[in-house]
Amino acid sequence: MQSEQLSAALLALEGEHRRRQRHVLETPQQPEVVVDGKPYLAFASNDYLGLANHPALIAAAQQGLARWGLGGGSSHLVSGHFAAHEEAEQALARFVRCEAALLFGSGYAANLAVIASLVGRGDAVFADRLNHASLNDGCVLSRATFKRFRHNDLTHLRQLLESTPARRRLIAVDAVYSMDGDEAPLKGLLELAETYDAWLYVDDAHGFGVLGEGHGSLVDAGLSSPRLIYMATLGKAAGVAGAFVEAKRNCWWSGW
Ligand SMILES: Cc1ncc(COP(=O)(O)O)c(C=O)c1O
Repeated sequence: MQSEQLSAALLALEGEHRRRQRHVLETPQQPEVVVDGKPYLAFASNDYLGLANHPALIAAAQQGLARWGLGGGSSHLVSGHFAAHEEAEQALARFVRCEAALLFGSGYAANLAVIASLVGRGDAVFADRLNHASLNDGCVLSRATFKRFRHNDLTHLRQLLESTPARRRLIAVDAVYSMDGDEAPLKGLLELAETYDAWLYVDDAHGFGVLGEGHGSLVDAGLSSPRLIYMATLGKAAGVAGAFVEAKRNCWWSGW
């Protein structure tokens, strides 16, 4: 019965041309790729700087494997936080002109972990309607009241912030929207965060390595504030995998 229901659901998706299939990539990421046996020019990857298959990165990874081995052995909190991780966190913090950083295995993991750690029941999160799905999952997982505002609409966000009874508030946005490529009005969002005593969580998966001469969207916009929490993925312009989260050491909220 259940498998019939699943087949019907898949057929319905197919009817709407929304059933997604994976294609097999037979080359590294590069301008000319082979997919399912056919040659193509690649316009579909997020390897914005062509680093995913760069000889310097491959050599660095090979050296790293020889020096540090393959597995982590345990989580960072137990005994898996290597000197190389520590160095990478410090270098990433300097690179985006922040004070402290935390590495994650993926942007998805970072969005879930950070949002669900900062807000919970009785708090409120405000999310742009076009945010990446991982931000939405983080908001749902947090159990905070989850409100979505119209895309890049500061007036709508202000109305929602004005009417919230929640003590702890977090605004979550993509800095560069992954599907449309437009940018969030970060300066206006930070002003609202200051007025309504909220954090501003910025997912810069598509701005890091590209905007602000590579240093990301906050550097590009000239913004720095204890209210800002910055997340960037390393699997797009940086050409590798993983993510990092940055904030000031005195990351601010008046209710502490
Ligand atoms: C805006 C945005 N945030 C987060 C992610 C998730 O990053 P990761 O693939 O490292 O889990 C993506 C990936 O597509 C993204 O586009």
